[in-house]
Amino acid sequence: MSENRVIGQGNKIPWYLPEDFRWFKEMTMGHVIVMGRKTFESLGKPLPNRKNLVLTRHLEQLNKNHPKFCFREWRGESGQMPPYQFNFSKFNENEKTEILVATSLAKLDPMDFPSKVIICGGAQIYEQALFRCSDLYLTIVKRIVGGDAFFPAFEDRFQAVEEMRDCAEFKIIHFRNRSLFPATQSRNMTVGQELLSGDNPPDSE
Ligand SMILES: NC(=O)c1ccc[n+]([C@@H]2O[C@H](COP(=O)([O-])OP(=O)(O)OC[C@H]3O[C@@H](n4cnc5c(N)ncnc54)[C@H](OP(=O)(O)O)[C@@H]3O)[C@@H](O)[C@H]2O)c1
Repeated sequence: MSENRVIGQGNKIPWYLPEDFRWFKEMTMGHVIVMGRKTFESLGKPLPNRKNLVLTRHLEQLNKNHPKFCFREWRGESGQMPPYQFNFSKFNENEKTEILVATSLAKLDPMDFPSKVIICGGAQIYEQALFRCSDLYLTIVKRIVGGDAFFPAFEDRFQAVEEMRDCAEFKIIHFRNRSLFPATQSRNMTVGQELLSGDNPPDSE
């Protein structure tokens, strides 16, 4: 987020910070990344070597709008698939990349997944999921920018535990959810922030 809490403008991220992209890639590689339908559309494709899970309440519409992908509804089939493999379903010789979809954030149980579940935005999803997250990794971009999507309030729930990085353009802070520690040790979800730009990630992605 920027210093004025902006995370997006016109379904894009209003800055380009390759260093922070790299950090996000390291953080999420091999894990489950959960994103809202609008954020998925701003990317235009799934991020490789991660289990991409898109949240929508309109699965049919998503399939209709993106014929080159095959969206399969996630029904909590714990441990069914390795974290980052795509299933290619042959259909009349066309190969389609399969992406998981959930029609309810509330029904997502991190214990169903073999690896970390990382919430990757956008604003609607951060707003709804933040309180269930054990950790927040927040990139603060040292700018004031115009925007139409904002990071929700978190300061009353999370405490800073570590400054991961601090450079001229941005800093990354690791926060922990006060209400979840030390009482419960169950695995919770994590918020990773920042990579999902309006512009597709660097080609290396
Ligand atoms: N800076 C960052 O870290 C960052 C990260 C990600 C995104 N962004 C930016 O954030 C903006 C997009 O955020 P946004 O809030 O407009 O959209 P979003 O959160 O990405 O997606 C919203 C959509 O998600 C689905 N959804 C929401 N709540 C749901 C629930 N409880 N269960 C099932 N589906 C649910 C709905 O899809 P349907 O309408 O299909 O039902 C809804 O329209 C863009 O500008 C993007 O670039 C920034």
